[in-house]
Amino acid sequence: MRPFVFIMCGSTIDGKITIRQGTSSKIFGKILKKEKGFKEMTEKLYQKRAQSDGIMVGSKTIIIDNPSLRAKNKDLVRVIPDAKGEIPLNSNIFIDGGKTIIGITKRTPKSYIRELKKKCIKIVLCGSGPNIDLSLLMKKLYLIGIRKLMVEGGGTLNWNLISKGLVDEIIVVTFPLLVGGLKTPTICDGDGIEDINEIIFAKLIRVYRTDSFVLKRYKLNQK
Ligand SMILES: NC(=O)c1ccc[n+]([C@@H]2O[C@H](COP(=O)([O-])OP(=O)(O)OC[C@H]3O[C@@H](n4cnc5c(N)ncnc54)[C@H](OP(=O)(O)O)[C@@H]3O)[C@@H](O)[C@H]2O)c1
Repeated sequence: MRPFVFIMCGSTIDGKITIRQGTSSKIFGKILKKEKGFKEMTEKLYQKRAQSDGIMVGSKTIIIDNPSLRAKNKDLVRVIPDAKGEIPLNSNIFIDGGKTIIGITKRTPKSYIRELKKKCIKIVLCGSGPNIDLSLLMKKLYLIGIRKLMVEGGGTLNWNLISKGLVDEIIVVTFPLLVGGLKTPTICDGDGIEDINEIIFAKLIRVYRTDSFVLKRYKLNQK
């Protein structure tokens, strides 16, 4: 058993989730905050967080964006796979008093694990590495009571989850922007498919628009 998993992301018309590799997507908020409908779409994001038991993002997103991943009036569990133990120990998710779970493997540096334990951060062992066994992580999250998990990127984590059949729905909010760039992170990165038989089909189940933004919700045809 695993939680119901949905991805929510904000993307440009050309599918990019930030303006350039290595930069924070928070810049979109600064650029768009005066656009009509921005506040409403931001509220939708907070509504979705409030309806979830946990929120997951990739370690690179924590390193680059240093988000807090909070919900209003709810103590949301933050879940971060970090096989290499790279997340700085002074990141917001470690120091703001909220609940955080770090997914590790048998190869994660022991010194890093010791530091997490000192901070009373919950760790979950997800295989022998080098990468996090995301299916195992999901099973363990279910066992500790997480029934609905929201994933907020980045593109590498999104694709690794989708390609393993671990995502039920994806919600994309399209911003009225274009940024281009071959290396700029997109909604899904990772290795991509190798064969036409691996294409993942999605069914559009909701479209909602404000003046400048379009929200699309898809159900994924996963195993
Ligand atoms: N617009 C938005 O909605 C939005 C949302 C979030 C983030 N972003 C942007 O996205 C960018 C970061 O995205 P990113 O794609 O570089 O990184 P990411 O998805 O945040 O993090 C990469 C993750 O992939 C894991 N990984 C790598 N190979 C794997 C494998 N084979 N199996 C399982 N896990 C694997 C890494 O874990 P290990 O290190 O443990 O291997 C790491 O957790 C930032 O610029 C951020 O601002 C945008």
